[in-house]
Amino acid sequence: MSTTSPAARVATLREQINEHNRRYHQLDAPTISDAEYDGLMRELETLEREHPALQSLDSPTRRVGAPVSGDFPEVVHSIPMLSLSNAFEDDTVGDFVRRIQTDLEIEQPEFSVEPKIDGLALSLRYEAGVLIRAATRGDGTKGEDVTHSVRTIGAIPLRLKGEGWPEVLEVRGEVYMPKAGFKAYNRRALERGEKPLINPRNGAAGSVRQQDPKIAAARPLAFFAYGLGEISGAPFSDRHSETLAQLGRWGLPISPEAGKAVGLQGCLDYYRKLGADRGSLPYEIDGAVYKLDRYDQQGAMGFISRAPRWALAHKYPAEEAITRLLAVELQVGRTGAVTPVARLDPVFVGGVTVSNATLHNFDEVARKDLRVGDSVIVRRAGDVIPEVVAPIPELRPEDAQPPSIPTECPVCGSELIRAEGEAVIRCSGGLICSAQRKEALRHYASRKAMDIEGLGDKLVEQLVDRGLVHQIDDLYRLSQDDFEGLERMGERSAQKLLEQIEHSKQTSLERLLFALGIREVGESTAKALARHYGSLPPLLAASEEQLTEVADVGPVVASRIRHFFNDERNQQVVQSLIDAGLHWPEHAPAQAPEGPLVGQTMVLTGTLSMPRDRAKALLESLGAKVSGSVSKKTSAVIAGAEAGSKLTKAEALGVPVMDEEGLLALLAEHGVRP
Ligand code: IVH
Repeated sequence: MSTTSPAARVATLREQINEHNRRYHQLDAPTISDAEYDGLMRELETLEREHPALQSLDSPTRRVGAPVSGDFPEVVHSIPMLSLSNAFEDDTVGDFVRRIQTDLEIEQPEFSVEPKIDGLALSLRYEAGVLIRAATRGDGTKGEDVTHSVRTIGAIPLRLKGEGWPEVLEVRGEVYMPKAGFKAYNRRALERGEKPLINPRNGAAGSVRQQDPKIAAARPLAFFAYGLGEISGAPFSDRHSETLAQLGRWGLPISPEAGKAVGLQGCLDYYRKLGADRGSLPYEIDGAVYKLDRYDQQGAMGFISRAPRWALAHKYPAEEAITRLLAVELQVGRTGAVTPVARLDPVFVGGVTVSNATLHNFDEVARKDLRVGDSVIVRRAGDVIPEVVAPIPELRPEDAQPPSIPTECPVCGSELIRAEGEAVIRCSGGLICSAQRKEALRHYASRKAMDIEGLGDKLVEQLVDRGLVHQIDDLYRLSQDDFEGLERMGERSAQKLLEQIEHSKQTSLERLLFALGIREVGESTAKALARHYGSLPPLLAASEEQLTEVADVGPVVASRIRHFFNDERNQQVVQSLIDAGLHWPEHAPAQAPEGPLVGQTMVLTGTLSMPRDRAKALLESLGAKVSGSVSKKTSAVIAGAEAGSKLTKAEALGVPVMDEEGLLALLAEHGVRP
């Protein structure tokens, strides 16, 4: 910025901010994140403060939003709809509270504390208790009449409950789309081949600002009230928190997270607690709002240009940001799955810097219509792995290209195969592929597998790249000399690692079965197999059909297991591990089940009045096998309340279905009482 004059920078910023306001408020199609917008606004505010000569009445810093779009009748807000000042750091909250303490000469100001709902601000006008108009914020003084859409929102009462409301009552609040409704809406939109919504906020704003009220009616919208506009007659309370409680009694929804806090520490505690709950709240929030609770104190603090001095929004790190998709690279996993990974221009989102994100598979890339060079919305909420939500088509460069779908493994050059009905593309190279070898080795050494401490990613890379380890059994042939010259591998650590490898020879059958990395065989399946067979030979001898007798093993898993052990290379690896000295305690195979239901496979689904584990144990006590998936071989499906896809599948396959009463009758028939 050093080469640009402040005046020129101010002009650029104003132009940019006006354009972003227009995109956000009128088009519902923002092209920058809220955090970036806030950044531009702050820079402009700072420049205007430092250079008072550059201040201007038509600067966006003096305005709240954007003028109305002209598509809807105009509504003049007799009491303007204001904005809030933002704080991104605790220090700014400290300044805010101290200012109140000094100006009002009070020690511990009391605040109403609320979540900052991420939606669209609305002003609802009730006359004689009846909703007569709903308006957007617009530029704060003039908004748009969206009554037709708002009337379709079930959460907003068309008539107030109870009694005692003022003749004119304007309620202000936020219309939003609950997270669950957003997800369900998008699932349905995709099924119908329609465009999904980018995020819940755009979903809410985009639905309300539509000429056709059917659009809002079809979307899952909700509302929280957070304040008042015009009211006739005398105020009905002298504290904000009392107002919210009263609005609640009149039937307006109030966020259950709203509360009260005292002083700076109270506000910060609330912020932390709400932040910790943020991910599990049913709606999106982007901050906490602190409002001086007493109206007389609010009055005494007053306003600065566009925001009250008695309130503050304390923002959380943005969960979404916009950045560029620089490339789509390929990653080869343990099972050979080739996953496209987005290489991104590093961006700060959800509290961390994100530079890549999985794209899951190429169907997903096509569905989202992502192209290399696109500006994309990146999301990282809580601890969830970062995700590329959608491209912004308006910002697409002309030469942006969809990534090409590879036909050869990027690591070993083997052919890539896509199995029918699967979205993943797999490398056919198996152990020829060094990427798969590395992943297999990493998995083998991992904590829940053979737990070989010290065999980390870097070392695995080197061991495979130098040809020291081709297959997992090669680990047991390593000697001290092999480690010479490896990075970060002194004599001492080499010795320790060898000890760990030696130590891993004493293991359990279930760990070994998990460590082999058989597709679909996770920890719990490995455990079930070990328990069922007790030792390796009967497992190796079991047919696919017999394998399905193991708890939790369905036809797909059984076929994967057979496939794995039928492969000569895998047989050799297992033998070689045993030859190297791997051993585990063996026991007799689990008792063959007995009882009147032996040979029957049951599937439990939906909600039963007894816990599902209990129903399972009772059926097993009669000799039945209880499986998690429905197939042609399923003897019966027991469907409780709200049974879903398993019931549908059973009906499609003609598998007998019984309800809870049927189950109880069956149990009773065999003398079992739940
Ligand atoms: S109070 C004078 N409370 O944030 C105070 N606003 O940046 C006016 N918002 O336009 C707003 N949750 O759209 C307030 N609990 C809350 C809020 C909230 C979300 C939005 C609202 C407002 C914007 C201010």
